[in-house]
Amino acid sequence: MTLAGPTFDLVVAANRLPVDLVIDADGKSTWERSPGGLVSAMESVMEGRDAAWVGWAGEPGEPPEPFHQHELYLHPVGLSAVEIQEYYEGFSNDTLWPIYHDVIVPATFHRTWWNTYRTVNHRFAQAVAAVAAPGATVWVHDYQLQLVPAMLRALRPDVRIGWFNHIPFPPVELFAQLPWRRALVEGLLGADFLGFQRTADAENFLRVCRRLLGMSTKGDTVTFTPPGDDPARRTVRASAIPISVDFRGLSALARTPEVLARAAEIRASLGDPEILLLGVDRLDYTKGIRHRLKAYEELLRDKAVSPPTVTLMQVATPSRERVDAYRLLRDELERTVGQINGEYSVLGSTAIHYFHHSYPKDEMAAMFVAADIMLVTPLRDGMNLIAKEYVACRNDLGGALVLSEFTGAWHELHQAFICNPHDIEGVKLTIMRAITAPEDERRRRMRAMRKGVADNDVQRWASLYLDSLASAPLNPHRRTRASDDEVREAERADRANLRASDRASERIGG
Ligand code: F6P
Repeated sequence: MTLAGPTFDLVVAANRLPVDLVIDADGKSTWERSPGGLVSAMESVMEGRDAAWVGWAGEPGEPPEPFHQHELYLHPVGLSAVEIQEYYEGFSNDTLWPIYHDVIVPATFHRTWWNTYRTVNHRFAQAVAAVAAPGATVWVHDYQLQLVPAMLRALRPDVRIGWFNHIPFPPVELFAQLPWRRALVEGLLGADFLGFQRTADAENFLRVCRRLLGMSTKGDTVTFTPPGDDPARRTVRASAIPISVDFRGLSALARTPEVLARAAEIRASLGDPEILLLGVDRLDYTKGIRHRLKAYEELLRDKAVSPPTVTLMQVATPSRERVDAYRLLRDELERTVGQINGEYSVLGSTAIHYFHHSYPKDEMAAMFVAADIMLVTPLRDGMNLIAKEYVACRNDLGGALVLSEFTGAWHELHQAFICNPHDIEGVKLTIMRAITAPEDERRRRMRAMRKGVADNDVQRWASLYLDSLASAPLNPHRRTRASDDEVREAERADRANLRASDRASERIGG
């Protein structure tokens, strides 16, 4: 194909651009940072690179003209109102999202949604093909764009294609429910390298290739003959490269006098509690907010905690508000918060401070600095960057992280206070363990977690990913003996942590 406009050696494709076009009541439009972990992670990686980013601008209708933001070239892809409904809210977030998150809510299957998903993926592939320089590296992101790799390969066989999944990849038994399972896998296998958050996700994918499609796998590679006229066999590598955060950037932000002053102000406005518990989540049923509130309510009922000494601040960032499961969850959460506050708040001091807003980065940093206990209790989460952001912001080694074992972050943050979010007794005990742990124990845990996140920050993740893509299907890095020892040590710490929480739970249960 002929390339008419500007082209780039590195092209990122993600459902959203890093900025959304926001049109206010007077019709005035502004660009605002778009929500979600993907953008916050990729933002610092793409900073200063001469690259293009292909994505949706967040509004229905004709796309705005491509434009530069700092060095980045932003190439908007247009979605009609129906496409937003069928490709984004429908197939991506009401079919794939539940299947990829353990079917916490049932998945909905509609053939029209699938058709629109295909159409929109093709539009993304065309947009990428138009801005990729000859031989460029293309980095496709997430479950919304699983067909792009093969579609792009058909348009531009000269480019190197990588895909990274920010969410879990489901076990074969769940993936098999998808009527379009074969097409999805063949779409992904257009890539040279497929990156996942956890080894278990990469293994799930390879098992799907083997069991559902009869392909042959060896180690972390799959070899197959692509459908169509081209008989050449291809080998694709699929392995885990867990995403991270901009440790240095966040740590520096959390050290600024403005953020420190704002953190003190937040605590003061909450009535200067002795213990401030904090939850910050996208309002999503995967995040375990209901379970967390149940545990907190029981701690209030048992008088283990009470305002004004202890209070909970829960931020629930608006998300996918036109999808039924999200609407219902919001209603239920807000009813529960109302009930808990009605029952347990005292004059001048509220049991739960609930905010249905999104906040800028510096305000989030101030919340993290202010919070004594950070509650990250998802039922299933690809990674959970909030856990890592909290750790990065605690320059003072203060605070404690309560972390669900069903997050990708659990595989790295072994020194957190670990819980099983389905085990309400266990969550209560883990919160109380975090509250009552001696200060030197908490500092020790925080120091170790900070070292882990600092050593494996988002910049390292991006360079590991791009190296893996460049050398795929070969693996660019060889594990040293030292890192094997580290892994074993971490696994030991994990087992000890799980044993402690199970034993505590069993004692109460019995
Ligand atoms: O990784 C999960 C994800 O869907 C990202 O693609 C996105 O950045 C984030 O969650 C927020 O989701 P949405 O774009 O649907 O608001």
